[in-house]
Amino acid sequence: MTALLPTPTRTLADRWGRVADDLRISLIDKCNLRCTYCMPAEGMVWLKKNELLTAEEAVRIADLGVRLFGVRDVRFTGGEPLVRQDLADIIAGVRKLHPEVPISITTNGINLDKRIDSLVEAGLTRVNVSLDTVDRETFKKLTRRDRLPQVIRGLEAAKASGLEPVKVNAVLMRGINDTGAADLLEWCITRGYQLRFIEQMPLDADHNWARRNLVSGAEVRERLSQRYDLSVDPVPRGSAPAQLWEVRAKDSAPDSPVLGKVGVIASVTESFCAACSRTRITADGKVRSCLFSQEETDLLSVLRSGASDDEVAEVWAGAMWNKPRAYGSDEVTLNDPEYVQPDRTMSAIGG
Ligand code: GTP
Ligand code: 5AD
Ligand code: SF4
Repeated sequence: MTALLPTPTRTLADRWGRVADDLRISLIDKCNLRCTYCMPAEGMVWLKKNELLTAEEAVRIADLGVRLFGVRDVRFTGGEPLVRQDLADIIAGVRKLHPEVPISITTNGINLDKRIDSLVEAGLTRVNVSLDTVDRETFKKLTRRDRLPQVIRGLEAAKASGLEPVKVNAVLMRGINDTGAADLLEWCITRGYQLRFIEQMPLDADHNWARRNLVSGAEVRERLSQRYDLSVDPVPRGSAPAQLWEVRAKDSAPDSPVLGKVGVIASVTESFCAACSRTRITADGKVRSCLFSQEETDLLSVLRSGASDDEVAEVWAGAMWNKPRAYGSDEVTLNDPEYVQPDRTMSAIGG
């Protein structure tokens, strides 16, 4: 499949020997949930319409990424990407130019049931849905909205559309949904969704993140092991943030059937920065070379100045060359007391 992708003329390389070929474009900062690990309850100041990438600009960025830099994966994120009414047009625009490139979205699932057919028709190839609990009260507490049934409908629609695999992203918060990890896995396995647990990162608007509260990947595996047997997935991980584990019935023989797979994205305790292959564009058209970057490079004003493809590419490549070693820095890590949380919250980066 990738053999048919265009031959790149340059790369998004950095000073640490990494080359980015996984593009994530955030399309909007708004969201219809208020997950506590991401947004404040109220008081968000949204980007204005003219500050957001237009559909044409988003398509152009994706095109440049694939055509000039050999990007192999294009993912649209938010905030909540389904809040963009022109999402299907954007996907169709990229699909028309690049029939072979995988195009995916990361969504909270709300209204996905109503939109999935048009998105698939436009050329969407995969969807990841964020869902931290299947307990309605807990969902309400965590997202500050009583909308679990809508998310479940969205997931069911994604599955029915035939897109595979449908992945579910869950963040565990101590004292809120941490004890529900095995229940969530069972729920996902029964329905054929591939669940991944993500360690909470210090990207919340309320700055409440604390290392001591972190539900680590190791703890997640321990919790799941009380109900299932887990063994490392034999498929090589590459630069994927998730380490996958095969799930079997508790105390079963090693050759017993695999019930499903579960991923653990241990961004804090088991850093995968050295293998990072991602380049991010924010909803207001800034290159963010790292999820935790303190600095961004404005690509939107370059696009809007009438710059040629080569000129845009040069700015983008320059921003990526300076990608920090890890966690937005060449020196400090998340565990250091001097670590400073970036200004942008996850909702304005897109994960
Ligand atoms: P696929 O596995 O290809 O479906 O994509 P993905 O896991 O990259 O996509 P998704 O948007 O579902 O990302 C899941 C989460 O992984 C993100 O929201 C982040 O929390 C985390 N993640 C992804 N990329 C990075 C990264 O470069 N650094 C860190 N620290 N975390 C990342
Ligand atoms: N830490 C880890 N993951 C987060 N997400 C949002 N905020 C955080 C955070 N602070 C996840 C969402 C979604 C993905 C885009 O990022 O749950 O699945
Ligand atoms: Fe919305 Fe996603 Fe942030 Fe939750 S994590 S508030 S669903 S952007």
